[in-house]
Amino acid sequence: MDRTSKSKSHAGRGQYDAAYGNFQTKLYEQIRSEAFGGDIGQNSWHTADEQDSFLSWLALSPGKTLLDVACGAGGPGLRMAAKTGCSVVGIDVHEQAVSTARSLAAQRGLSPRAEFQVADAAERLPFSDAAFDAITCIDSINHLSDRRQVIAEWARLLKPGGRMLFTDPITVTGPLTNAEISIRSSAGSYLFVPLGYDERTIVQCGLHLLVSEDLTRNMAEVAERRKAARAARESALREIEGDQTYEGQQEFLEVAARIAKEGRLSRFVYLAEKLR
Ligand SMILES: C[S@@+](CC[C@H](N)C(=O)[O-])C[C@H]1O[C@@H](n2cnc3c(N)ncnc32)[C@H](O)[C@@H]1O
Repeated sequence: MDRTSKSKSHAGRGQYDAAYGNFQTKLYEQIRSEAFGGDIGQNSWHTADEQDSFLSWLALSPGKTLLDVACGAGGPGLRMAAKTGCSVVGIDVHEQAVSTARSLAAQRGLSPRAEFQVADAAERLPFSDAAFDAITCIDSINHLSDRRQVIAEWARLLKPGGRMLFTDPITVTGPLTNAEISIRSSAGSYLFVPLGYDERTIVQCGLHLLVSEDLTRNMAEVAERRKAARAARESALREIEGDQTYEGQQEFLEVAARIAKEGRLSRFVYLAEKLR
């Protein structure tokens, strides 16, 4: 993909470069294990337990096809494919994330039914109508500036009866200072929406809302554990990431934990179905 054609929704490079550039190192694997209580190759607030409950809603099985939008390094999508037998197509705008995802798929023997592509999820996607049984997007929709356009595009891609699930980790549920917003959105372009906006948009796009659940506590705990796991490896991380990225990431995690704990910025999951 031509870099110059990337939309403004493309996340800033610093934090994602550090995460994806070092993704498969022992150090980063240990940090993920401690932060999430288990490393599933995620770069978000997503845990294995949480994914297990999402899987119980998605009705995936062998022969079904899942699109994982903004898949990162592919860990969550690969785990869903491994657990259910479905095929997965993952897309992300970050080239290094996609190449890591391809390498993890090969390592896990999942390449025949796991495909990863570089694509900008803010644009029309290179798939035909009704191509997928399910679409997931974990902690990434907040990087895409036009929520209605994005969900309408997913509705186009779903088969009738297909299910869409996304988590929105920056739902505004209380007062926030400009400094908090700036630190919380330091990894690129972000869309903060008020509570209720996601539900309304899902319905406006013709999808039937099945679940809306508050997962803020999970995010607060992961942010705290991730900050502590990184702090315990401070000198190694400063060496790899540089002082500015290390400190920026620690500040990001501290603010993310605090405003989530105080219920001012919340994380919700939404599950919706395309009517038959
Ligand atoms: C918080 S990470 C989540 C990654 C993955 N879903 C996970 O749970 O590990 C957000 C991801 O969104 C991707 N992203 C940001 N803007 C994007 C865009 N316009 N199109 C596709 N991916 C995008 C980033 O590269 C990053 O991998």
